[in-house]
Amino acid sequence: MDTIEPEVKAEVREEISPDLTGPEAVARLNRDMQRNSLTPLWQIETNLMSRQPRTQTLPWLWKWSTLYDIAERAGALVPIERGGDRRAIALSNPGLEGRPFATPTLWTAVQWLNGHEVAPAHRHTAQAIRFIIEGNGSWSTVEGDRVFLERGDLVLTPPWLWHDHGSKSDERAIWLDGLDIPLNNYLDASFFEPYKGEAQAVTQALNGTVLKYGVGQMRPAWEKRSVEYSPIFTYKWTDTERALDNLAQVASSPYDDIALEYTNPHTGGPVMPAFSAWIQMLRPGIHTQAHRQVGSSVYHVFEGSGETIINGVSFRWEKGDFFVVPSWAWHEHHNLGGNERAILFSLHDTPLLLALNKYREESYQLNNGHQEITGTFQPV
Ligand SMILES: [Fe+2]
Ligand SMILES: [Fe+2]
Repeated sequence: MDTIEPEVKAEVREEISPDLTGPEAVARLNRDMQRNSLTPLWQIETNLMSRQPRTQTLPWLWKWSTLYDIAERAGALVPIERGGDRRAIALSNPGLEGRPFATPTLWTAVQWLNGHEVAPAHRHTAQAIRFIIEGNGSWSTVEGDRVFLERGDLVLTPPWLWHDHGSKSDERAIWLDGLDIPLNNYLDASFFEPYKGEAQAVTQALNGTVLKYGVGQMRPAWEKRSVEYSPIFTYKWTDTERALDNLAQVASSPYDDIALEYTNPHTGGPVMPAFSAWIQMLRPGIHTQAHRQVGSSVYHVFEGSGETIINGVSFRWEKGDFFVVPSWAWHEHHNLGGNERAILFSLHDTPLLLALNKYREESYQLNNGHQEITGTFQPV
């Protein structure tokens, strides 16, 4: 068996010189620590435990026109093959040193599936969702439950469940992929297994989990509560839109207007342990108040146009765009689409922070809750 030899074996300490307390002794101490793979806290403390979050993640925005153009070209040039399994293009936050992550905890990608293609079945411990941007004629099968995908549907892939996607149409499908890959890898918890064969067998009636549990208030009387993950694998847009319209009649948040978190109906908790998914409507003309919270978020503009002001910078968005709000960044949303509603889909790592008792939030107290705008983000 191989053994790992430390580079410095014998010489762990320099020869003792007469200087026991002066600058030379301090320099020698520093060298000895470095040689022995040790780091003094007193030299790094302000970085190690900052007064408040100092994230490398940048607030950023990706234009739909760019994403679509690149995904379309990938659709023409890159086959879906075993190994890659998915034609997904990840948002790489420029603050994160080239890593393919939107935030320190969230992978977000645009996935393109050509008509009549199949993205082969596999399973992994990374927790995944898909939000369908265009889906005509495409389907997802999750653990034997197949559903045909429509714009605005949310599809869950809880950890270690088989899933594959395909199309019975001439049209391409395009959707948002959200996973906890950065966290899963940071924790050295990644397992992945390809399915033997391309698409798994469909073992339930079409839309099985939606028909069984989709109402959310009731479950088949002979079944136990599903606590580990949501029993519903697909949240259909028609139900989501009705829930937004219903909520708009009775209540709203000053920071998020009409915002709903998708939940596991059996626990009331988020759809994934590592992140939550939201759908949110900004009614015409709404300009929310600013706040900030610990944890990072990725937004996709499903409908409408407007701006989100992040740390004083206006990020103007329109249908299809994606943007990131880093941890502890002030943010407020503003619908600029005249008489049109705006709809935002978003992912948040809040469940992690709540579970670990690290969540904090704060509302912006100055200027009636609105930040002073100091600049406008210019997309590349
Ligand atoms: Fe997957
Ligand atoms: Fe917020």
